[in-house]
Amino acid sequence: MFLGLVENTISDRLINLAIPIYTKSLRTISIISKGKMLETEQILQNRYQLESLLGNNGIRQTWLAKDLEAPEDAKDGRVVVKLLAFGGAVQWDDLKLFEREAQILKQLEHPRIPKYIDYFCIDDRSLWFGLVEEYIPGESLKDKLAKHQRFTEKQARKIAIDILKILIYLHELNPVVLHRDVKPSNLMLGIDKRIYLIDFGAVQDKAIKEGVTFTVVGTYGYAPMEQFGGKAVPASDLYALGATLIHLLTGIPPAELPQRDLRIQFSHLVNLSPHFLAWLQKLTEPAPENRFATASLALESLKSGLGLQLVNVNKIPPRQQALNNSGCGIQNNNETIPDEILGWNWGAFLMPWCWVWTNQVWIGLLCFFPSIGLIMAILLGAKGNEWAWKSRRWRSIEHFKQHQRGWAIAGLLIGAPFSMILWAVALAALLHVF
Ligand SMILES: Nc1ncnc2c1ncn2[C@@H]1O[C@H](COP(=O)(O)OP(=O)(O)OP(=O)(O)O)[C@@H](O)[C@H]1O
Ligand SMILES: [Mg+2]
Repeated sequence: MFLGLVENTISDRLINLAIPIYTKSLRTISIISKGKMLETEQILQNRYQLESLLGNNGIRQTWLAKDLEAPEDAKDGRVVVKLLAFGGAVQWDDLKLFEREAQILKQLEHPRIPKYIDYFCIDDRSLWFGLVEEYIPGESLKDKLAKHQRFTEKQARKIAIDILKILIYLHELNPVVLHRDVKPSNLMLGIDKRIYLIDFGAVQDKAIKEGVTFTVVGTYGYAPMEQFGGKAVPASDLYALGATLIHLLTGIPPAELPQRDLRIQFSHLVNLSPHFLAWLQKLTEPAPENRFATASLALESLKSGLGLQLVNVNKIPPRQQALNNSGCGIQNNNETIPDEILGWNWGAFLMPWCWVWTNQVWIGLLCFFPSIGLIMAILLGAKGNEWAWKSRRWRSIEHFKQHQRGWAIAGLLIGAPFSMILWAVALAALLHVF
């Protein structure tokens, strides 16, 4: 996680925090002898039974454990125990971050952030600090990428919305909380299919005076330049989110992608809607002032498809224009259809007679033939979006969606009652005949 650690001073605050924990630890029964590795089945604090090692970055170990004192109603008593052995390579900087993680986690209250459970210290000939937090069942996005899973624009957008909502919560706290290490291994896809933000080991509480003491944290490729100068701002978490999304979409870690003018070059590897591409480019602008100022603004722009007036169109590579492959003709099977436009086309289903003219898909004229009219309407409902996308030149996905929304409303208000009248007349005629 750490690129490097820079500490100008060891704050008195830290020493004040560490001493009571250390004193308390003297009363703790020693269970880890010096140099001995932690092992599965081992019980810490007479309470946490280690089950499996989830991560070991050389400084910190992360274990899945069973809480033997978990309340009856707790899911299955599983918890995550993070352990830091003080001394050797592990220095005050690491302890400071570890302690800050515990302090901040304790104050956070969000359904997509693991809950703080306990903080303890074990004194043996070496000193161990432990942080216990809620276990989020699921898989990290890093695990998903390791299985070569590539993410579609639709999935990436959903993930982005989930993360932005968590960032809005953190950034709107007083004092502001910056995560500073948003990346695939710190994002869990829960079994409820929602994204959780874990690992607050690099977190910064902006109440700490800037300029007096700073610690450089973050992961190369995901953290923006300003963070390595110790000047993280809310937009730094937005850069990390952008770099993470680029990794999910391309399957390539951002550090391995080419750069031009410090900008990650990825548009030639993806097939995204122009707005989403421009949105990602704005998120990963090298200068923080050129990104969205807040997570709320980024979310607003993502949802509305607006708010990118500031993006200089010249920065968008020409390939981007080619990505909008609308108007390629319905016979063209080589072109990819954006995931976001797929789905049932209510406008076409309810008003097949009008739909064929506005979208110029002449096969739809078959809906005028009485015997196959209904089959054609169903076919238009199922394939209407795809055919409409291919048949006409659309300015953007938003433009397309707006058009289809209008026709769906018209279909419900005019097409549906009109069809019902037609069916009623046909039924009455049938009854009359027999
Ligand atoms: N609260 C949690 N619930 C579920 N799984 C977790 C939790 N915390 C950590 N993990 C799992 O443990 C793994 C290791 O976490 P850890 O933060 O120790 O290392 P990392 O994120 O891989 O690397 P880094 O040291 O760069 O953060 C995570 O990728 C995740 O799969
Ligand atoms: Mg981590």
